[in-house]
Amino acid sequence: MQFQQKKFFIETFGCQMNEFDSERIIFILENKGYIKSGNPDEADIILLNTCSVREKAENRLFGHLGSFKALKIKKPGLIICVGGCTAQSEGERLMSKFPYIDIVFGTSNIGMLPGLINDRFVKNRSICNTGELPENFDYLYDFKRQYDFKALLPIMVGCNNFCSYCIVPFVRGRERSAEPEQIINAVKKLAGQGVIEIMLLGQNVNSYGKDLVNKSYGFGQLLRDISAVSGIKRIRFMTSHPKDFTEDIIDAISENNNIMKHIHLPLQAGSDRILELMNRKYTSGKYKELYYMIKEKIPGCFITTDIIAGFPGENEADFLKTLEIVRELRFNRAFTFIYSQRKGTSAAPMQDIIPDDIKRTWFKKLLDEQNRISLQENEKLVGKKFEVLVEGFSRRDYHLEGRLENNLIVNFDGNSDMTGKLIDVEITGAKSFYLTGKLYDKQKRKSD
Ligand code: SAH
Ligand code: SF4
Ligand code: F3S
Repeated sequence: MQFQQKKFFIETFGCQMNEFDSERIIFILENKGYIKSGNPDEADIILLNTCSVREKAENRLFGHLGSFKALKIKKPGLIICVGGCTAQSEGERLMSKFPYIDIVFGTSNIGMLPGLINDRFVKNRSICNTGELPENFDYLYDFKRQYDFKALLPIMVGCNNFCSYCIVPFVRGRERSAEPEQIINAVKKLAGQGVIEIMLLGQNVNSYGKDLVNKSYGFGQLLRDISAVSGIKRIRFMTSHPKDFTEDIIDAISENNNIMKHIHLPLQAGSDRILELMNRKYTSGKYKELYYMIKEKIPGCFITTDIIAGFPGENEADFLKTLEIVRELRFNRAFTFIYSQRKGTSAAPMQDIIPDDIKRTWFKKLLDEQNRISLQENEKLVGKKFEVLVEGFSRRDYHLEGRLENNLIVNFDGNSDMTGKLIDVEITGAKSFYLTGKLYDKQKRKSD
């Protein structure tokens, strides 16, 4: 009988760091001869890369795991693997809750996955491996990405900030930065392979390098050095923490055309009392100063944000301060979340007496206000021409999707061979979260 290659199905929850980890998992498994499949029903191995930042995400995961139980009954040889942040924080507990999970692997154990899968096939008992391994960033090298033209690139992992509501420092460990040479070499290699857009990743990219021997080399310098790599047309980065955003970083962005004019700058709350309880280490005044400096030094820069509604102890007056700052600053987009208590964080024991319906009312108010502002800001772009990077066809319909410098997506008609290219598009319509457009017609413009 011919050897049948085993198929795997992977589903990713959470942030770009998890997306990056999933790309690595796919690469590592394909390298070992496994075949990726989009259909869990035909897979021999199912992998879930999990997020534990909010309870809702975890509940969705538990729902998913429930549905895979039926698959496992139908196909007893099926191997179910759970990785990512929930795997890291729950470990063995996940296995006792869902005994049909075969492998639980932590956020630093991705490289070990083929060995763990092999062990599971041979030994027929479940495995939990969430131990912390030293991070050496070797994975920045020799690794084929999902896209030919754009790549995610972690410049650091972990977080030292311990915002009081946040689980990330507990599941991703302390900040560790890659050496500048390692990063630049990886960027050069990607550029050599045809990649034109690089997204630099870190929980707080602005504190890049603080753990390295050469303390004078910071994020601003890294941006300048990456910007000088030939072939790289677009550099993005996330996430920025306001407390570490220096003027030098703003200058690096404004001086270099290939550093994109988009900054994701989480505000979290507008009330100084709540910001302090959140351990964010800035005031609303400092945030505004930074915001206006960015807007002044980088004209046209889009600023997006994250906001939490209903932090323990937040009252109506605190909430109104958030609403006021949203109205004043007019973010281009805000991702709003209802506070979710996370076990082990320092906010977890804080008394949370705000009724759920009040939290939901605040959340809805913020959402409506921001949607209105985003739409008004986007409408200002109608009639203008922008260079976009075409990312492929939209999942919703037959339109192409292109990304503007400011990170907005525009849908337009075009050919599939435009994918991966920079193309001029004229904006014809605006919604709160995306734009519509058409190919820019140079000839027509000349004869107008
Ligand atoms: N390092 C990034 C990303 C953190 S998670 C940063 O500092 O911004 C992304 C967002 O999730 C956070 O900005 C925050 O707004 C939200 N978040 C984190 N923990 C949360 C919690 N316990 N409840 C609700 N929202 C939370
Ligand atoms: Fe979480 Fe704060 Fe770190 Fe962001 S900076 S990952 S919100 S602890
Ligand atoms: Fe979620 Fe982990 Fe990212 S908790 S937001 S996947 S770092």
